[in-house]
Amino acid sequence: MNEGDKEISYANNSLLQKTVILKTRRVLEDTIKDLSSNVLPTCIKVADFGCSSGPNTFSTISEIVDVVHEIYRRAQLKFPKFQVFLNDLPGNDLTTIFRSVPAVLDELKREKGDLFGHCTISGVSGSIYGRLFPSRSLHPIHSSCSVHWLSKVPDGVENNKWNIYMAKSSPPNVFKAYAKQFQEDFSLFLRMLSEEIKPRGHMVLTLMGRRNPDPSTEFYGWELLATSLCDLVGEGLVKEADLDSFNLPQYTPYKEEVREIIQEEGSFELDRLEVFEVDWDKKQDINNNGLVLDKYERGQKLANIVRAIKEHLLACHFGDAIIDRLFARLALHQAEHLDSK
Ligand SMILES: C[S@@+](CC[C@H](N)C(=O)[O-])C[C@H]1O[C@@H](n2cnc3c(N)ncnc32)[C@H](O)[C@@H]1O
Repeated sequence: MNEGDKEISYANNSLLQKTVILKTRRVLEDTIKDLSSNVLPTCIKVADFGCSSGPNTFSTISEIVDVVHEIYRRAQLKFPKFQVFLNDLPGNDLTTIFRSVPAVLDELKREKGDLFGHCTISGVSGSIYGRLFPSRSLHPIHSSCSVHWLSKVPDGVENNKWNIYMAKSSPPNVFKAYAKQFQEDFSLFLRMLSEEIKPRGHMVLTLMGRRNPDPSTEFYGWELLATSLCDLVGEGLVKEADLDSFNLPQYTPYKEEVREIIQEEGSFELDRLEVFEVDWDKKQDINNNGLVLDKYERGQKLANIVRAIKEHLLACHFGDAIIDRLFARLALHQAEHLDSK
């Protein structure tokens, strides 16, 4: 993710992910209520996996604190202590997160008043595909828009020519390789968590998925980024071999794949599996009195969302020099695509 508070940082281009978090609030609320229906602990240990750095990092935590406080208030119990663990990869912008911690804690104290118990917020750096916490230490676990990131690009996708992800023109082995890598990674994630979560602990996971069971019939959107890279190959700015060796380390599963993996792995019971759609394209500019945007402005906004998430990955593989041109192409392709919808 792009660091800091620059124009094309993740912090300034994560409204889409914020919408996802808002849509799952009800599920999170029900989960916390369910978790608290037996014993009300005096210290609650919450973990957010793949927290990134930006306004979304603390929004889930505030929500969990709100729900828990309401439950304890109704039960006329002393408010619990909170230990919040924010996890992401070592490259994540922890400095920005830690700078915000005092203000976030002050705000919580102001909102909750004198009854607000002790709360600590810590960063836990490392991959969700390895052990991060002591055994049986966590209560509720949350993760939004992160678990669809794979531990690596799947093996055996070198023949995915002119594509950078699964696409309608990908050879059949590419779909199989992506599904296999997700199956391995998601199972490992569940196995690690099953050791770290307290007995009867709950978690809420939200990940990007796809509509169609058959992955070769879906339009994923990354095709437009691939087309933009192909343009730069045509202009001699990117080597064809570099494009051929680049594929995205992520996977958008169909909901039944998620169900099957959870059942086969066997550590967790699945309470609810829900699918919802989020529109990436904002037709109005929320920062500008709801001004209606034309297709080029909308294309630019979509390109910025992608850039905030994928710039680092692309720059590491293709070099920094092509980045501005690549995303200018992407903004145009996005605008043309909006026109054709
Ligand atoms: C799109 S962001 C979502 C951030 C935040 N949860 C939100 O909803 O705005 C995905 C995050 O997952 C993190 N991530 C990807 N792979 C990960 C891994 N193996 N372990 C931990 N975090 C990972 C990325 O670094 C990134 O910060």
